[in-house]
Amino acid sequence: MEKKVLVIGSLNYDIILNAERLPEKGETYVCKGADRCCGGKGGNQAAQCGKLNIKTYMAGRVGRDFSGEILLQGLKEAGVDTRLVEKDQTETGLGVVYALEDGSVYAGIVPGANSKVSKADVEKAACFMDENTVVILQLEIPVETVEYAVETAKKRGSRIILNTAPAGIVKEDILRQCDYVVANEVEAEVLTGKSITDKVSAGEAAACLARKLGNTCIFTLGSQGAVAGAGENIWFCPAYAVKAVETTGAGDSFIGGLAWGIIEGMEFSKILSQASMCSAITVQSPGGQPSMPTLSKVLEFRKKAADSPA
Ligand code: RIB
Repeated sequence: MEKKVLVIGSLNYDIILNAERLPEKGETYVCKGADRCCGGKGGNQAAQCGKLNIKTYMAGRVGRDFSGEILLQGLKEAGVDTRLVEKDQTETGLGVVYALEDGSVYAGIVPGANSKVSKADVEKAACFMDENTVVILQLEIPVETVEYAVETAKKRGSRIILNTAPAGIVKEDILRQCDYVVANEVEAEVLTGKSITDKVSAGEAAACLARKLGNTCIFTLGSQGAVAGAGENIWFCPAYAVKAVETTGAGDSFIGGLAWGIIEGMEFSKILSQASMCSAITVQSPGGQPSMPTLSKVLEFRKKAADSPA
């Protein structure tokens, strides 16, 4: 049976404002430029999987509007099957991101149709969940839907990646059913209740959470790389040294790379480094989905990295 990814999650139309700094209160700030692109954590993760040539299905909701059409088109161009994306009466989700020159991003979203993704949508997608499926979820759709999706995917024998982004509360019983829980520093602090200040504290926190949940926990740390814990093991994966132009979607690209490694049955440290490669390529150009690498780009990057190790 064909190995595949099913992403159940959000689709946002992103407006990325390129700025030297954030505006002050009451100030109208003139930005350097803007990029308009397909986004949403779910859509981005699906697009990354599609671009890596993985058979990928996206389940979610867009509005019956122009940005919804653009999002569907963008996913199709990335090779994603969109038959499980419904058109809702509510408007398409919107993301507005301030992208500063140092690579930091400040994002606000309006959920729109994402807030309507329901248990019924999960039921419709359930026939794509089997032991050959990696199901990917995030927290930009209602948490009850995410929890139902985890329970459904678990019963059907799929492997589950839960990206707890944006930071939110998920029942421990649900977290335990996920094979991989992935969070950035901010989300990891909410998940663990611990302060994450560096790689060492992040590694310890990831290992501690993984032991409690009985799965693998991965924390991404931007330019500091990623850490992971499972059982008694802790992994540290440095970030590749690249010039970051704009970092929107870097975490989503990492998730796509992770799914790729899991599907290919790679050894775990290799999975982490390949996921990091995907992020390293994504940050080198503006926007989420447009900057995510194809399989050939990752293989080219991997060859260069092997020929000239840091
Ligand atoms: O992870 C990046 C994404 O977060 C953006 O595309 C934006 O839409 C928000 O969902």
